Amino acid sequence: MLQVTNLKRSFKSGDTTVNAVNDITFSVPSGKFASIIGRSGSGKSTLLSLLGALDKPSGGSIVVDDKDITKLHDRGQTTYRCKQIGFVFQGYNLVPNLSALENVMLPMEFAGTGKRQRQARAALLLQQVGISPDQAKRNPGKLSGGQQQRVAIARALANKPSLILADEPTGNLDSQTGKVIFDLLHQLAKTENTTIVAVTHDLEIAGKTDIAFRLDDGKLSVAQPQQAHPVKTANQQ
Ligand SMILES: Nc1ncnc2c1ncn2[C@@H]1O[C@H](COP(=O)(O)OP(=O)(O)O)[C@@H](O)[C@H]1O
Ligand SMILES: [Mg+2]
Repeated sequence: MLQVTNLKRSFKSGDTTVNAVNDITFSVPSGKFASIIGRSGSGKSTLLSLLGALDKPSGGSIVVDDKDITKLHDRGQTTYRCKQIGFVFQGYNLVPNLSALENVMLPMEFAGTGKRQRQARAALLLQQVGISPDQAKRNPGKLSGGQQQRVAIARALANKPSLILADEPTGNLDSQTGKVIFDLLHQLAKTENTTIVAVTHDLEIAGKTDIAFRLDDGKLSVAQPQQAHPVKTANQQ
């Protein structure tokens, strides 16, 4: 369960203040998939950084599984990022000189999981996201964009996080692959009982998530169905 209350983050530059996240309140139950849509500069990345404890808010609280993460000190934040959060980025951010399997094992190594257990869980997760044992042995450079993002999703799940944060996870993929990747995230949210918050530009994708939010100049609202769904579907065209 994610509960965000009166969250604020402002940036000062000279005489001007940008309220990138401007008094936001929302919640996402465990196992649910929330999307956030919004123009460039509307505060999406700032909000995800706050949820991932990569940045400190100017005010408000973020409660993840009954703990206010804004009150954690540095060490507590590092542990929170390592054990409770999985990040998925637009650019995949895999380690280039490690195999897909080793990439998925890495967060478990940071969390202190034994080698055999790391190997077994990484292999299982890669299988779940549709990566074959042969592909698992390859370095990211020898995988397609969609395959790399599958590996990144397996890596995000490695430590059984409470929350997965995805910033434009399909931004570098063609729309068909993007849909497949979103469906995969959706399915995993349910099977792993993980809350997912994903930023997207794709209104069709946003319309299929459990909750769709809009961000406008740092203000959050629930997206209206007509805004979250495409105007025309493929077979109407
Ligand atoms: N570190 C920063 N310093 C100053 N302004 C920032 C910083 N990060 C973001 N901003 C500003 O906050 C607003 C929201 O940015 P961002 O969260 O990156 O938007 P989005 O991800 O929706 O494109 C923008 O006006 C941006 O210029
Ligand atoms: Mg952004």
